[in-house]
Amino acid sequence: MAGMKAAVIGCGGMGSGHAAKAQDLGLELVGFCDEIESSATRLRDTIGSGYITTDSGRIMRDDSIDLVIIATHHDAHHPLAVAAAQAGKHLLVEKPMCVTYDQAVDLAEEVEKAGVKLVVNCKFRIAPTVQKAREFIPHPRLSHGQLAMDNYALKEPGTSSSWLWDKDDGGGLLISTAVHTIDLLSYLMGGAADRVYAEGKVFDSRNKGDAGYPDALVGTIQWQSGGLSTVISTDQGHNPFVSKWFHQMWDGERSAVFSKHTSRVDFSGCDIDYLETQDLPESERNKASMLLNLMEAIETDGDTLCNVHDGARTVAICNALDAAARTGQTQKVAR
Ligand SMILES: NC(=O)c1ccc[n+]([C@@H]2O[C@H](COP(=O)([O-])OP(=O)(O)OC[C@H]3O[C@@H](n4cnc5c(N)ncnc54)[C@H](O)[C@@H]3O)[C@@H](O)[C@H]2O)c1
Repeated sequence: MAGMKAAVIGCGGMGSGHAAKAQDLGLELVGFCDEIESSATRLRDTIGSGYITTDSGRIMRDDSIDLVIIATHHDAHHPLAVAAAQAGKHLLVEKPMCVTYDQAVDLAEEVEKAGVKLVVNCKFRIAPTVQKAREFIPHPRLSHGQLAMDNYALKEPGTSSSWLWDKDDGGGLLISTAVHTIDLLSYLMGGAADRVYAEGKVFDSRNKGDAGYPDALVGTIQWQSGGLSTVISTDQGHNPFVSKWFHQMWDGERSAVFSKHTSRVDFSGCDIDYLETQDLPESERNKASMLLNLMEAIETDGDTLCNVHDGARTVAICNALDAAARTGQTQKVAR
């Protein structure tokens, strides 16, 4: 969008990816903030221009900035997003939008008050496979969502992937990573959940801190729509046949199976047998961007594909599944 200026807070892996995409989309990146100065410098140097800072307040006070990308560790999402909304800036917030439902409700109030647009980067929503499956199967009755990945904390102790087990920085595998699965199920199943149940275990606690987050969780979700889902969130090994992410849904006549990181969907009972994102023209693949979706929402004063209320619903379900696994009790989902 011509003339729109942006800043990145959190200049690690995802912040770098967003900065490159922002440049492609014609945003002018004017500020790079990271609590580690060398990370901000490295990204600024890659992009080519802009100032660096370790003080997020400088970004918030900069009236030239329209849009802030937040790609920090998870404890900082809520305070930074609230500060940016209060400063009147539109927001792309990395998942999870917040770690707790109370934080999410607070952020939703600030976003509404400020009248800014927010998108959570729950990117499976915008995948062409998911959009096509929603067209064919708008009201699924049953679905399954699965995160099954390798045990990176064991393989790479002390590296960038082990912070997700930290109580403050990350919040455990479910809210940190399986949040994508919960969000996709919510998008497919029509939004809000009524109640959940889950069992959780810690099979291998090495390099996973002392917060006791399950490294294997099996849960169920009862949706307000009447639909049902099963969920698996684990780091007990990845299988290349289905990939780290695997989802299925059924509506009584038709079904869809998502594999290959949600870049492939196989249908039954639908007009086409399958869709592979890689077979689509590059121009169409490029449109599958939550940052672009945010820019379009700003331009048209429309809604984003994963707004602050969608983000809050997903956090509520993750919190309830975690509580169910810890207590052995069915949990009502906050809303
Ligand atoms: N949507 C996706 O597919 C996807 C994939 C991977 C990670 N993520 C998310 O992206 C975010 C960043 O993950 P990452 O893999 O890039 O991590 P990373 O460790 O590579 O980068 C995070 C950066 O944030 C900085 N940081 C942490 N707290 C900060 C604060 N309070 N203020 C300023 N800077 C701060 C760190 O110094 C680091 O440079 C997380 O929310 C993560 O869950 C999303």
